[in-house]
Amino acid sequence: MSNNDNEFERIDRFGTFSASWDCLASEYGADFISLAIAEMDFETAPEVKQAITNAAGHGIYSYTEVFPEFGQACANWFERRHNWSFGANDVVFTPRIIEMIAALCTHVFPKARIGTFSPYYGPIIEVVERSGAHLTELLLVDDGFGNWSFDAEQMRESFTHIDVFILTNPHNPTGKLFSYEELVSILRLAEENGVVIISDDVHCDILRPGKQWIPIAKIAGELKSPVKIVTCVSPAKSFNVAGIETAAAIISDPVLRQQAREALRAAGIHNPNFFALPTAIAAWNSDGAWIDRLNVHLTSNLNYAAKRLVEVEGLRVTVPPATYLLWVHAPDLMPNREACNEVIKTTRVVFGPGENYGSQWSGYFRLSTAVPHATLQEATARLIGKFQALQ
Ligand SMILES: Cc1ncc(COP(=O)(O)O)c(C=O)c1O
Repeated sequence: MSNNDNEFERIDRFGTFSASWDCLASEYGADFISLAIAEMDFETAPEVKQAITNAAGHGIYSYTEVFPEFGQACANWFERRHNWSFGANDVVFTPRIIEMIAALCTHVFPKARIGTFSPYYGPIIEVVERSGAHLTELLLVDDGFGNWSFDAEQMRESFTHIDVFILTNPHNPTGKLFSYEELVSILRLAEENGVVIISDDVHCDILRPGKQWIPIAKIAGELKSPVKIVTCVSPAKSFNVAGIETAAAIISDPVLRQQAREALRAAGIHNPNFFALPTAIAAWNSDGAWIDRLNVHLTSNLNYAAKRLVEVEGLRVTVPPATYLLWVHAPDLMPNREACNEVIKTTRVVFGPGENYGSQWSGYFRLSTAVPHATLQEATARLIGKFQALQ
């Protein structure tokens, strides 16, 4: 376990209208543990908290606008942290990534044929389908050792009948980081078939030591690819500020960028939340030391939980290269949603049943480990006890 327990310690979140805690408490009782939602149970970075506190101190919370400092802070972060350069003017503010994708699907690509990998982050696929798009799911396949890949032939065939491909890199729920070669192959297929890529890279800062996230748009720039790409990023996951609603789409193509701006306006999305700009600017202008410490804590948590869970016969899980999520295969112990719900009810540890990430993923479940060590220890102990009883 890491030695930064004090920084990533238990904070009582009840009474904050929390989606994870207050919402579930009435259903499961006060001693439940929420590992179901991709958010963290600790305070944001000190410089971000300070920026929000300063903003809160003003007393007038009226309309705000997007100023150039936002795009500049975003560009600075990705240059410094990920060695990806783009112009501050390429950055389009959006409160949430889901809103940007919904607006694009409704107003820029209406009723389009959209491809994506399955499993997937359900709420975004829900807005894609609700927009009237025709969805093609491409299955990711596990080699049995936690390495997820896609079938090149299936991809080649699918790309001939889609207009837009939604990539999630790092991938939720598997935690896969797409390799340079994989991204080049996706880019080439998009090029050959005139497919636009939306890359949802919200989890890009949460990485295991030595692992690197490669944005597909960076490769496209280097290879001078004509493929149009929207890259969605945000401090929401990295700095645990999802409730502030501050995110960005990086779009180097000026026509698509303007279309994205118009789409947001058509959806009635303008004037950021009062705290949105101070939060994102403080996060992206920070030196990243807090994220480094956070990644140490999360890696330690993932190692701990995976090591404990694989002791149970019938569970298969590996530590992913990115995200704080574990995607666990438990086909015999929890073959479907009902079995998951029974385990949740009796352990009072709440996690995401596999079907939340695509109908064919029964037998899997997703666990967030972004909690204090002690909470994770208690949660894994409860789950392991239950699984042993089920054997
Ligand atoms: C892959 C992915 N994209 C987007 C989001 C949500 O982002 P937002 O709240 O900005 O829509 C999540 C949240 O879990 C996610 O996992």
